[in-house]
Amino acid sequence: MSEIYSVELIDVLKRFGNVVAVDHVNLKIRENEFFSLLGPSGCGKTTTLRIIAGLEEPDEGIVKLYGEDVTDVPTHKRNIGMVFQHLALFPHMNVFDNIAFGLKMRKTPKEEIKRKVKEALEIVKLEGLENRRVNQLSGGQQQRVALARALVIEPEVLLLDEPLGALDLKIRQHMMVELKNIQRRVKTTFIYVTHDQTEAMTMSDRIAIMKDGRIQQIGTPLEIYYRPSNTFVASFIGEAVNLIIGEIGENNVMNTSLGTVYCPEQSIKGKAAVMVRPEMLEIGENLSQVDNLFKGIVQAAIFKGSYIEYRVDVQGTIFIVHKHGIDGMEKFYTPGTLVEIGWKKNSSLTIPV
Ligand SMILES: Nc1ncnc2c1ncn2[C@@H]1O[C@H](COP(=O)(O)OP(=O)(O)OP(=O)(O)O)[C@@H](O)[C@H]1O
Ligand SMILES: [Mg+2]
Repeated sequence: MSEIYSVELIDVLKRFGNVVAVDHVNLKIRENEFFSLLGPSGCGKTTTLRIIAGLEEPDEGIVKLYGEDVTDVPTHKRNIGMVFQHLALFPHMNVFDNIAFGLKMRKTPKEEIKRKVKEALEIVKLEGLENRRVNQLSGGQQQRVALARALVIEPEVLLLDEPLGALDLKIRQHMMVELKNIQRRVKTTFIYVTHDQTEAMTMSDRIAIMKDGRIQQIGTPLEIYYRPSNTFVASFIGEAVNLIIGEIGENNVMNTSLGTVYCPEQSIKGKAAVMVRPEMLEIGENLSQVDNLFKGIVQAAIFKGSYIEYRVDVQGTIFIVHKHGIDGMEKFYTPGTLVEIGWKKNSSLTIPV
C-alpha cells in the first residue's frame, strides 16, 4: 500500500492574471512533520498555503488531505488550523475568550471548552493569564495566544504564515525553540512559511525551497545546505557561498578562469559550478593538505565573535572564508596581506549550471 501523507499537492498551478504564482507544485508532507516553505518574497509561499487551506482554488492540480481529494472541499470542512503574521486576535477580549472562540463557534459544551482552553494554555505556557486582555500582553505572548487558539480545535494540520515576522530578534529566537517543542508535544503536522532561512533551518524536518512559483529542492536542512541541487539553492541557503564556474573534463578536473580546480570523485561533466562553503576554506601563509590552493590578497577581515570572516581577492574573484576556532587574541590578516586560501576537493560539491 502506498504511504498516506497528511498533505499532498499534485501538479498544482495557480495564476493571478498573467502571473503564475504557483507553478506545477508537487508536495508530499508526512504526518507530524515540521515542513517549511522557504523562498524570497513573491515566490508563491502564501498562495501555496492558502491553496492547502482551501482559501484559494487552484487552476490545475489536486489537493489531498490524508489521502482524500479535498480540491473542492471548502475551508471550514478541512480540519486545518491557521496562524498568520498579523494575528487577528480580538484585542479587547481576554486570553480565555480569544482561545475559546473556535470552540464556541463549534458549539462545544462549556465544561469541555474550559478543559481544552486550559490544556492549550499549558501547551503554550501561558497558564494563569486567561483573564488578561490580549492588548496587555507582549508580542511573544500574543503569538502564543494565536497558536493556542489555532491548536485548541485540534487540527490535523497547522498552517503558519510568517508567524514570527513581527517579533524582534530575541523573542523570535526564543519562539523558534518553543514552536518546535510545541510541535513535538502536540504531534500535529506543521506547515511553516517563511523567507527567513534561520527559522526554517532551526525548526524544520524538511524544507521546500521555492523560487518563481516553482519548487527548487525538497530536503532536510543538512541536505539543502550541503547538497543544494542548483546554484540558486546554494546561494540562498547559508550565510555565504563560494561558487566557481567552469568546465569539468576528464578525471574530475575543472577548467576555470582562475586555473585548474580539482573536484570531488565522480563529479558531473561539462559546464558546472563548484561550491565551497566559507567554513570549508582554509587560510594561511603556508597551506598544506589541500587539493586546491590559490594566492590572494585580503580585502576585508570582519570579526564576527565566534569566527572571522575574510574576503580574499584571487585574480578579481572574491572568496569568503570563515575562520572558526580562533583562540583569543590571535592576530588576523589585515587588508592588503598576501595569503593562501585552499580546500580539500571532498569539501566541495559540483552543481550543474
Ligand atoms: N490576490 C492576488 N492577486 C494578484 N496577484 C497575487 C495575489 N496574491 C498573490 N499574487 C501574486 O502572486 C505571486 C506570489 O505571491 P505570494 O503572496 O504567494 O508570495 P509569497 O512567497 O508569500 O511572498 P512574501 O514572502 O512577500 O509573503 C506574487 O507575484 C504576488 O504578487
Ligand atoms: Mg507571503
